[in-house]
Amino acid sequence: MPSRGRRSAETSPGLPSAEPGAAAQSLGGYEVLVCVTGGIAAYKTATVVSALVQDGCGVTVAMTRNARRFVGPATFQALTGRPVLTSLWHAADSGAMAHLRPAELADLLVVAPATANVLGKLAGGIADDLVSTLLLGADGPVLLAPAMNTRMWQHPAVQRNVVFLREHGFLLVGPEEGWLACRTVGPGRMSDPAALLAAIRDQLRGRPPRAGQR
Ligand SMILES: Cc1cc2nc3c(=O)[nH]c(=O)nc-3n(C[C@H](O)[C@H](O)[C@H](O)COP(=O)(O)O)c2cc1C
Repeated sequence: MPSRGRRSAETSPGLPSAEPGAAAQSLGGYEVLVCVTGGIAAYKTATVVSALVQDGCGVTVAMTRNARRFVGPATFQALTGRPVLTSLWHAADSGAMAHLRPAELADLLVVAPATANVLGKLAGGIADDLVSTLLLGADGPVLLAPAMNTRMWQHPAVQRNVVFLREHGFLLVGPEEGWLACRTVGPGRMSDPAALLAAIRDQLRGRPPRAGQR
């Protein structure tokens, strides 16, 4: 497996301010591919995407079919000013290996929220839709923001996948403990946009944009 430019993505209260639009540094020249999968927390991802765009970052969004049940592509299209990637076959129609190109162009892939399903597919090497194919074809760093019900998060199969992914250089932010959409309190809540943005900026900072290296 190619190196993912491993850097710890542990978030801490000591990280710099991550209020949307409040970053001191610009992310101009960087490209981030945000993959949205099917969890309630998908609405928080819109805040993250908007803040990255405000920082000057080029953002492309890819969504699973299930993600589109939670937030419409029009939201992300409006926020990014770019078409939202939803189909393996639209991508394939537009040129040779175009289904892998968005991941190759990105300085960082972010999966937020990352469902139990996409973690399992990634750990198991399954590529049966656009998002999982992009993830498996990525050669750069991938930051995962898991979000799910506490029992799902604590399931041995999910924990096994998380251990595997960490061991293989994938970066995880959260999940946090807190109020969940299933009206319980416990681990499984996606990290707040501020924490996610801090982790994204931390990953981008210190490495030149890929575009400048081509
Ligand atoms: C209302 C609702 C909320 C859900 N929330 C989550 C969630 O937060 N995390 C999760 O892993 N799955 C959640 N699921 C289940 C996923 O949507 C389901 O596992 C789906 O297959 C994920 O597909 P994807 O990973 O391709 O987007 C939810 C399902 C429903 C109906």
